[in-house]
Amino acid sequence: MDASSGSARKRMWLNSEKAFGLNSVRAGKQRAKAVAMAKAPAVIAKPASREFVPPVRRDPVAIVPPQMPAVAPPPVTAFAPLPAASLSRDEKKHLLAELNEEHVKGCVRCELSKTRTQTVFGEGDPDASIVFVGEGPGGTEDATGRPFVGRAGQLLDDMIKAMGLRRDQVYIANIVKCRAFLQGPPPKDRPPTTDETATCSPYLVRQLEIIHPKAIVALGLPATKYILSTNQSMSSMRGRWADWRGIKVMPTYHPAYILRAYTEENRRAVWNDLQQVMAYVGLKK
Ligand code: URA
Repeated sequence: MDASSGSARKRMWLNSEKAFGLNSVRAGKQRAKAVAMAKAPAVIAKPASREFVPPVRRDPVAIVPPQMPAVAPPPVTAFAPLPAASLSRDEKKHLLAELNEEHVKGCVRCELSKTRTQTVFGEGDPDASIVFVGEGPGGTEDATGRPFVGRAGQLLDDMIKAMGLRRDQVYIANIVKCRAFLQGPPPKDRPPTTDETATCSPYLVRQLEIIHPKAIVALGLPATKYILSTNQSMSSMRGRWADWRGIKVMPTYHPAYILRAYTEENRRAVWNDLQQVMAYVGLKK
């Protein structure tokens, strides 16, 4: 898109805010009115285009994940050392494909391999400036082999579009490459266990080493906790830059959470986080 003229940029910016169901920040008196309204108890209008998603009922018995024995994670030496010089897009593409073909696709290192349809490696630009990291594949991802293609994925697509990017201009991956779920009926997605995460995450680490993006967007608590090795709450980490091996990390809410808690406050929070990422990687607002 040619966003070189001021009005084109402004239009793109307003469209981006609309994608989040937000009104653009107003100037002068209007802005003061907007601030006063924001302080008043919010009556959140449902967006016409997205149906209301009721919060998932948490059943404390059903969501306790089984603690399955995991075999040792792949040692760091399982992967050839990377050259010190930065890699070309083609080299990155080749290394990612090799990692997938030789290590991930046939992986049987944990129990998740027994119930998966297929692994979900990740996809996007091997030379992306921004990598989005989620928790793990759900049912649609398990069926298609692609990350974030279910309902949460549609919202992630909207978020990426709002940033002025296409999905194939970023990279999207997960901490674990196989679906973690409790057998049904109906099957119910669950967070990966600590063992499953420890076993699978070297693949993500390798993806991040190869891509070496400018910024990582950690989607939700499990991804943020893993990447930053922390036990802090999402609300204390969200919107604050952190660091993973010299790469900037922006923790933000998971799109599935936004769908469950579709408030203006949450959408504005995510949009603010993404704007920080845009500014950092040099994307025009
Ligand atoms: N789909 C994914 O690929 N990852 C998530 O974390 C959620 C949905």
